[in-house]
Formats: sequence, structure tokens, C-alpha cells
Amino acid sequence: MKDKVKLIFEGKTYELPIVTGSEGEKAIDISNLRQKTGLITLDPGYANTGSCTSSITFMDGEKGILRYRGIPVKQLAEHSSFIETVYLLINGVLPAKEELNNMSVLFNDNSLVHEDMQIFYQNFPRASHPMGILSSMVNALRSFYPELETIEEEINITVTRLLSKVRTMAAMSYKISRGHKVVYPRPDLKYSANFLNMMFDTPVRPYPIDEDLVKALDVFWILHADHEQNCSTSAVRLVGSGRVNLYAAISAGIAALWGPLHGGANQAVIEMLTDIQNDGGNYRRAIERAKDKNDSFRLMGFGHRVYKAYDPRAKIMKKMCDKVLAKLKISDPLLDIAKELEEAALKDDYFIEYNLYPNIDFYSGIVLRAMGIPTNMFTVMFAIGRLPGWIAQWKESVDDPKWKLGRPRQIYTGPIKTDYIPIEQR
Ligand code: ACO
Repeated sequence: MKDKVKLIFEGKTYELPIVTGSEGEKAIDISNLRQKTGLITLDPGYANTGSCTSSITFMDGEKGILRYRGIPVKQLAEHSSFIETVYLLINGVLPAKEELNNMSVLFNDNSLVHEDMQIFYQNFPRASHPMGILSSMVNALRSFYPELETIEEEINITVTRLLSKVRTMAAMSYKISRGHKVVYPRPDLKYSANFLNMMFDTPVRPYPIDEDLVKALDVFWILHADHEQNCSTSAVRLVGSGRVNLYAAISAGIAALWGPLHGGANQAVIEMLTDIQNDGGNYRRAIERAKDKNDSFRLMGFGHRVYKAYDPRAKIMKKMCDKVLAKLKISDPLLDIAKELEEAALKDDYFIEYNLYPNIDFYSGIVLRAMGIPTNMFTVMFAIGRLPGWIAQWKESVDDPKWKLGRPRQIYTGPIKTDYIPIEQR
């Protein structure tokens, strides 16, 4: 009976199997529950629902653990590159030297974006948010690169195209939004350096590539690369489950990430810190507002659905923040406010009781600001980082022999059968 649970309903006992993960996590398999009992489960926000089994990312929210394919994210941040982490997530193992080189060559070969796409960019209204543009443009890629012959080709080539082109597209949208000449990708530059160059190089002022900033960007992207079944990843899996093409599934993931409760929080944190700065640095007022149940204000960059301890990524990001600012000799008043705010919140009974700790977004915006990335591009930076995770999760779902169309059920609470009343009798 160790691997089963008993459910007693209307006097009858049903046995439901237990599924155990490699780290000892346990789930009740309820896939036959409705057939056996007529019951479904109800779990708003899926807080206690496992939508799949997955061998990609392990996280333990109580202990603050995050590992990609078994490797702690801290080790990857210290020793790996973003591209190596991309390979690890998508292929399941670290690459040999030659495999990594081949991947760089493929990325270079696929880094250009169809010239006609520039026309789309130029026609978005000036005030468009870069996340809306990115989501639309990624979806539009299917029209430029139609379906390939085999599913293997489709997976390999589309994945490479997406990963390589997304940074070109993001930088291109920034350049066009400023009315500047687009900078093309350079084959001699690595992934992160290439992105920074496409963003900031101009014909009048060549961009000096700083290896410390390149490393910081690599770490930023490694820390964002996957986070198991979060909102945007679940969106990619759900949309992908209808067997839509990968571009469309990723486009849905980008749209889901945009929200301020999810990836959009990195932009919201900077906006919140700026408001506090404009309020004379009064961070205590923000804490009081966050605690007030009559006020919808939340401390942005605090709290997480899964982490009930310090987000391990936030620790690394905080250290990196200090390092980048010291290197660039920048003193950012928002960082001072962030640190004071964090210290006060962590001592506050409300935040202690609710287990609210800083999440990755709390310090990431300050790092991006220091690099010169504009605030409205922060979530795009997150999206580029999360892309390998979305792709790895999508690929895992496509390869799953138990692949099913995602389709939750509901408990209906509307009117019972009601006859139609002709308009003249209402
Ligand atoms: N400030 C104040 N109170 C908060 C906060 C916060 N940041 N986060 C949660 N709470 C409170 C809620 O008011 C709620 O209180 P109640 O039970 O008395 O009504 C309780 O904690 C639980 O909150 P939920 O929203 O139900 O918990 P959930 O697990 O859904 O929340 C979330 C997770 C959405 C991230 C939340 O903590 C939040 O809104 N944080 C701010 C936005 C943010 O930083 N998002 C980025 C998350 S990381 C990422 O996606 C990349």
C-alpha cells in the first residue's frame, strides 16, 4: 500500500497510485479518477497540480534549491556559459567541446533576420511595448520560415533559428524604436557579446565590449534559463499541446511572461523603486501599503509561488549587482533603496509570516539598468533567457509518448437549464 492512497467516497474505497520523482517528490496519479469515481479535482491556479513529469529542472521551494538537469544553478552561473546551459537544457547533458563549437557555428549561420521583417518593426506604433512586438514577431517567423519536411528537421532547425534570431530581433526592435541604424550580428562575437554589440554599437561610437559585462549578461541569462512549470512555460506546453508550431507556442510563452506578476515584475520593481525615490526614499510607506489588505499594492520582486525561502537566483543576482556597479563605478540610488527595503521587509512580521523573500526580479532590473538596457526591455531580456527552457519543455512534451491535448475541466456554477425567452416577453 506504500505506493497507493485510498480515497473513500460515498461509502466506496478507491485506490489511487502514487508517482515518485527522482528527488522523492510524491504525487497522486488522478488520471483515472473521473472514470472510476465521477469526481474531478479542483485547484485554482494549479498550486497543487502536477501537469507532467519532467527531467529538466528540479526546484525545492522550501530549501531554496534550483538545478538544471541535476546541476545546481550556482555552479552553472560560476562555470558555464549561457550557450553551454542552453545545450544542457535542450539535450539533457553537457556538450563535448566539438558539440559546443558546432552549436556556435549553427547559431552564427542562423543569426540574421529576414530583411522584410524590418518593415513590420518600422510599422509598430512608437509606444508599442517590446514584449508585444517580440511576441508578434516570433509568431510571424513561421510565415518567413515555413514548415520543414520532417519533425526532426523541424525541431533541430527551428530551435536553432529561434535561439539565434531572438537576440537579433530584440536588438533590432530597440534600434528601430530609437530611429537608429540596425546593427547586424557579427560571427566573431559570442552570444552575449554579440547581443550587447547589436544593442549599443553605433556608426559614430563603436561599442567597447567589456568581458565583465558579457559575463554578467551570461549569468543573467543562465539564471533565467528554466524554472520548471511556471506560468509562461505552462502556456508554452498548453498551447503546444494542440500541436501548433513551435513559433506560435513560444509566442504564447512570451505573452504570458509579460504580466507584472510573472516576468514583467523586473520592470515593475524598477518602477516601484523609482516611485519610492520620488517619495523621498520612503520605503517604509511601500511596506505598509503592501501589508494593507485594502490596498492592491504588492511589493514587486517579493514572493514566489514555489519559493518559501530565499530564491537562490536572487542571491546570485544581488552579488552580481554589486560587482557590476563597482566595475562600472556606478552608484545607483535605486540599489540603496532596494537594499534598505529588503532589510526592512525581511524583519517585518507580515513578510515573515507569509514567507515573502526577494525573487530574481528584485535585483535583476538594477543589473540591466547598469548595462544600459532600457526599462521597457527588461522583460524581453528575461524572455531571451527563458527561451531554452521553453524549448526544452516543449520538446519534452512533444517526445512524450503520453502526449495529450491540454484540456482542464471545471465545476460549473452558472444557472441551471433555463428556457429561452423571446425578446418581446422579457
Ligand atoms: N507583497 C505583499 N503581499 C504579498 C506579496 C507581495 N509581493 N506576495 C504575496 N503576498 C500575499 C498576498 O496578498 C496573499 O495574502 P492573503 O492570503 O492574505 O490574501 C498571500 O501573500 C499569498 O499571495 P498569492 O498571490 O495567493 O500567492 P501566490 O503564490 O499566487 O503569489 C506571486 C506569487 C504572484 C509571485 C506574488 O508573491 C506576487 O504577486 N509577488 C509580486 C510580483 C512578483 O514579484 N512577481 C515575480 C515572481 S517571480 C517570476 O515569476 C519571475
